[in-house]
Amino acid sequence: MDFSLTEEHLMIRDAARDFAQNELLPGVIERDEKQQFPDELVRKMGELGFMGVMVDPKYGGSGMDTISYVLIMEELSKIDASASVMVSVNNSLVCYGLEAYGSEEQKQKYLTKLATGEQIGAFCLSEPEAGSDATSQATTAEDKGDYYLLNGTKNWITNGGRAGVYLVIAQTDREKGHKGINAFILEQGMEGFHIGPKEDKLGIRGSDTHTLQFNDVKVPKENRIGEDGFGFKFAMKTLSGGRIGIAAQALGIAAGGYELALKYSKERKAFGTEICNHQAIAFKLADMYTEIEAARHLVMRAAYDKDQGNNYDRTGAMAKLYASKVAMEHTVEAVQIHGGNGFVKEYHVERLMRDAKITQIYEGTSEIQKIVISRSLIKE
Ligand code: CAA
Repeated sequence: MDFSLTEEHLMIRDAARDFAQNELLPGVIERDEKQQFPDELVRKMGELGFMGVMVDPKYGGSGMDTISYVLIMEELSKIDASASVMVSVNNSLVCYGLEAYGSEEQKQKYLTKLATGEQIGAFCLSEPEAGSDATSQATTAEDKGDYYLLNGTKNWITNGGRAGVYLVIAQTDREKGHKGINAFILEQGMEGFHIGPKEDKLGIRGSDTHTLQFNDVKVPKENRIGEDGFGFKFAMKTLSGGRIGIAAQALGIAAGGYELALKYSKERKAFGTEICNHQAIAFKLADMYTEIEAARHLVMRAAYDKDQGNNYDRTGAMAKLYASKVAMEHTVEAVQIHGGNGFVKEYHVERLMRDAKITQIYEGTSEIQKIVISRSLIKE
């Protein structure tokens, strides 16, 4: 069993680390405060190949593997989880969804721009009454012959205000249950497509989260993804990969908190010595490092499964479940190690703690991951 990374993996990890240190770190506190993320930084991430990491180069992507993707996600998330959620949604949900299940025309028209970062994508599944219970879609798409008429509301949509392309899940035939759900490609600016105000969030505040409203939006038939009734499976398959990306985000948030805590504990003195020499702090560091490494192994295993063509529903859910728990618990510890300074914005750990929480909620809560894992075990 070989746990080492290849030269290419190390190079892409270092490129992401340099970008995070040099481009994301300056301004991260201000972006969190003002709830902003400049287009310029999205463009730079596109130039570095971070917006279409796994997409085939013939569609403008970087043609890298999932291991490279999780390395990039970890490094960006150590510094700015608002940046990494944009990367994650664009890569895992939108680019992957289109590349794996879109028609050649859809790939040419939409994927090429998304993979280069020229445009950014959004994935629209959640609704006011359909979060965890994703089959209960209230958004409807009525078949009108050569187009569908979309009506409904989507909630908590990442990249909601700035996306060019939106993958929208809607009910076409309620009687058929999950087999009566379809996925559609919408573009910003379509008539009847309204973007609501930005959400004022606890964490990942630099990212752009909106409610979307569809009032009689005419969606051309060729914008449906896959066969009629494929929408729910499309969402589930796409989310399975998305969970690996969010697991890597959680890992990065945890590792970012740990690195800051370690550094601080080696500098800060109390009771006549650096605080890392006190067992109360040293034991915390040992627990943090051990559990972060365990989370890293789960994330890498899930990424490996995806790259090998193995089923990754269970390993992705396990990675997300565990890495998000580690992120939440150990960013709290990182604040604790910093003491009073941990409560102050300039030390960064309070932001990481706020950012950690969402990793236990989006792309399926921790409870949803346990459903996915336990069902796969029982089915065996
Ligand atoms: N791959 C392929 N098919 C799958 C699948 C998968 N991973 N998971 C389920 N399916 C299929 C099932 O086989 C079944 O098909 P058949 O009837 O043909 O066998 C069908 O889908 C229905 O499956 P279930 O009966 O298991 O469905 P369920 O209603 O019990 O729901 C669930 C399962 C796991 C709870 C699901 O609803 C779920 O994942 N909910 C959470 C939704 C979620 O993650 N939302 C996140 C929003 S996106 C986001 O957060 C992005 C962002 O902005 C950051």
